[in-house]
Amino acid sequence: MMKKTHILVADDDKAIRLVLETALKRSGFDVTLTENAAGLWNLAQQNFADLIITDVVMPDANAFELIPKIKKINSEMPIIVMSAQNTLMTAIKANELGAFEYIPKPFDIAELLNIINRSINENKKVVEEESFESPDSFPLIGRSKPMQEVYRVMARLMNSDLTVLITGESGTGKELIAKALHEFGNRKDSTFVPINMAAIPKDLIESELFGHEKGAFTGAIDKKIGKFQIADGGTLFLDEIGDMPIDAQTRLLRVLQEGEFLTVGGTSPIKTNVRIIAATNKSLVDQITLGAFREDLYYRINVIPITLPPLRERKDDLPSLVNHFMARNAPNDNASRIEQDALNYIKKYDWPGNIRELENFIKRLITLYPNEIISLDIIKNEFSFLDQKNYKTDSKQLRSLEDHVESYLSKYSIEDFHEGDEGIYHKVLLQFEKPILNFVMDSTKGNQIKASKILGLNRNTLRKKLRQLNSDLPKN
Ligand SMILES: Nc1ncnc2c1ncn2[C@@H]1O[C@H](COP(=O)(O)OP(=O)(O)OP(=O)(O)O)[C@@H](O)[C@H]1O
Ligand SMILES: [Mg+2]
Repeated sequence: MMKKTHILVADDDKAIRLVLETALKRSGFDVTLTENAAGLWNLAQQNFADLIITDVVMPDANAFELIPKIKKINSEMPIIVMSAQNTLMTAIKANELGAFEYIPKPFDIAELLNIINRSINENKKVVEEESFESPDSFPLIGRSKPMQEVYRVMARLMNSDLTVLITGESGTGKELIAKALHEFGNRKDSTFVPINMAAIPKDLIESELFGHEKGAFTGAIDKKIGKFQIADGGTLFLDEIGDMPIDAQTRLLRVLQEGEFLTVGGTSPIKTNVRIIAATNKSLVDQITLGAFREDLYYRINVIPITLPPLRERKDDLPSLVNHFMARNAPNDNASRIEQDALNYIKKYDWPGNIRELENFIKRLITLYPNEIISLDIIKNEFSFLDQKNYKTDSKQLRSLEDHVESYLSKYSIEDFHEGDEGIYHKVLLQFEKPILNFVMDSTKGNQIKASKILGLNRNTLRKKLRQLNSDLPKN
């Protein structure tokens, strides 16, 4: 008979030990339990276990102090760390110490079993113990479930140079995450260079990125060093990459493929060594469909995707964010306080501007009401300045055209479409045609020649469609 896999579990919480014992035994593992760090160290030294699952904070010591010692005895030992201290730093630290996986508490047994099975098959290399300064010094607040996912991906990326694409609505913290990836990574001693595609005039983007030679174009009075060169050895943060002009995209793609670039007007290639982190609040997939983003560039950049949840999908984080912003923006160290029912009221709002909107709101509060306890009345009054349509609406914010169509269709049943004879397909297409035709006709001021060109429609087809629209669409 094959020897059973033996799992050593350390946790000071009796309930967790019990749950794990039951679940693990039921899944066919041998289990040994201990309730503190001393027990863990004792048992680990006997070296009989195939895998260790441990809590971080135990009454006698912190498991993070033990992991390097255990790894010295058996460098191959997979260690799964579980913690209720669900911050980015916990995830990073577990990762740095060579723990196989970090799972936030409360955890899902099925997920844990998955991880166990994976770790039995795949042993992770030992990472040398590193000095680890000022835990939680990085202002990345929030321990909600969606953020845990983000932290886990980030923690795994800390020692790599892989390209990352951060997607998320405006104000969700994309830039902050990009900075964290840089500051806790291999390249922390070199520069982090941000460049925002949406903020630079389109025709200057290439020279900003790659630099230009003196006289390369009108206005190029002096030679200019581009961001690629400034970021050499460090990280280049391509912010709002969805706004990058298509020519610059072509050039960027070539640089990423070849590892070298030419300045605008330059002739000798310059080698580049930058780590790329890109961010966008647009759906690049939609942009590709519209022809505004190169598909091949998208695959180059979307190596590791990180999707930041909008604030309304992680309202559990609101109290800690509110307190964080109150403390951070407090005049002379005198943080304001907020009443529970005021906080509850804040939770009902959808925060379409996400964390940035929340931060501005809190700044406003503590400026207007310094040294006061923020009450429900104050909040209600201040909310009258916010966009009321976002209050108490639970409607999911829609991102892509596809989302919109799906949401539209979800309001109907098949029977709703049966009347008439044109069929669902044409009925839905008509709904789409009307706004797109109107949009283009408006922007070309009714010029059908221009409009047909932009639409990519034959002019006769366009005329026919416009006639149709006028006769049979606007009835409802
Ligand atoms: N997890 C977080 N904890 C604390 N502060 C945060 C967090 N995420 C974002 N912030 C703060 O919220 C503000 C907006 O974040 P950031 O600029 O990174 O967002 P963004 O996604 O890049 O937005 P945009 O798309 O508008 O550029 C910043 O002041 C940032 O410090
Ligand atoms: Mg940003």
